[in-house]
Amino acid sequence: MSIKSQQRIDQLIRKLADGQFHSGESIAEELDVSRTAVWKLIQKISEWQLEIYKVRGRGYQIPKGLELLQQDWLRDQLAKAHSKFQHIDVLTSVTSTADYLAAQWKKHPGIARVCVAEHQTAGRGRKGRAWISPFAANLYFSIGVELPLGLSALGGMSLAIGMSLAQTLNQFACDKIKLKWPNDLLVDDKKLAGILVEASGDSNDNSFLNIGVGINWDMQLAQGEKIDQPWANLKSLCQQDVSRNDILLALLVNIEKALTEYQMNGFSGFAKDWNHLSAMYLRPVTIHLPSTQIEGIEVGVESNGALRLETTNGVQSFHSGEVSLRKR
Ligand code: BTN
Repeated sequence: MSIKSQQRIDQLIRKLADGQFHSGESIAEELDVSRTAVWKLIQKISEWQLEIYKVRGRGYQIPKGLELLQQDWLRDQLAKAHSKFQHIDVLTSVTSTADYLAAQWKKHPGIARVCVAEHQTAGRGRKGRAWISPFAANLYFSIGVELPLGLSALGGMSLAIGMSLAQTLNQFACDKIKLKWPNDLLVDDKKLAGILVEASGDSNDNSFLNIGVGINWDMQLAQGEKIDQPWANLKSLCQQDVSRNDILLALLVNIEKALTEYQMNGFSGFAKDWNHLSAMYLRPVTIHLPSTQIEGIEVGVESNGALRLETTNGVQSFHSGEVSLRKR
């Protein structure tokens, strides 16, 4: 899409975000385009799983309006917090925030940065799955950071990030959020958020982390119908009136703290809080490995992040695998 079309789409979305009806004529005038061009732009954003009403004689409306992510506000707040994540780009639509960040990193290596998007056309989940990313319904962001740690020291990193996310979100959601090893966030055993950490570098000294986070906020049933597992939204758990902007800011500030803690002490500082946060602690689970599966009771994590299962052959530790709950 050309920069001009992108700007027009941004303008159009900002206008419709108020939840009011806007006539095709008034939009065309403001964007300085024809009414046919307005219709085409509306078609385009409707493809992003954004519901737009068209009523003859009244115009276009986004029912209930939208609370959009605010790049300037986020930048200001991060500057006030002396955060190193002040290079933050808030995009309307992108293939994947992870891919955008990787491309930015090639151009400007070494600078910590964040990319947030209202919509992803090719959001990526773990194990090659797609991450469904309807417009402005959820949070999708990636953080790029360089650490003076080799790849071999990153074993517990994605757990540490997951714990930081869960602890931060629990401040808004009354401690209802738990973790499934290694780093899925769950509410009542339904998936609330996922993390995809991609690391590159050398084994001993240095690494670049691309930390991708997707959090369901207020996704409608129709928007999430292609998701192949039970899922939950964050908004309905929040007691206070809190916005996606507030939540994103709190998450970025706390992830930065978690990265600093990990850099100093590795995962060992996090390990003590795992049992309390784990959705599967002392529950019967199966761990699915490439060529086999093992049953056991989850009994915590090692100080390097490995999962501990009590099995018929004693306690065994696992560094990778997919965990599922066993119904008794
Ligand atoms: C998972 O499968 O649980 C991980 C999901 C990670 C999704 C996020 S959304 C932001 C970032 N961009 C992507 O394409 N993926 C991650």
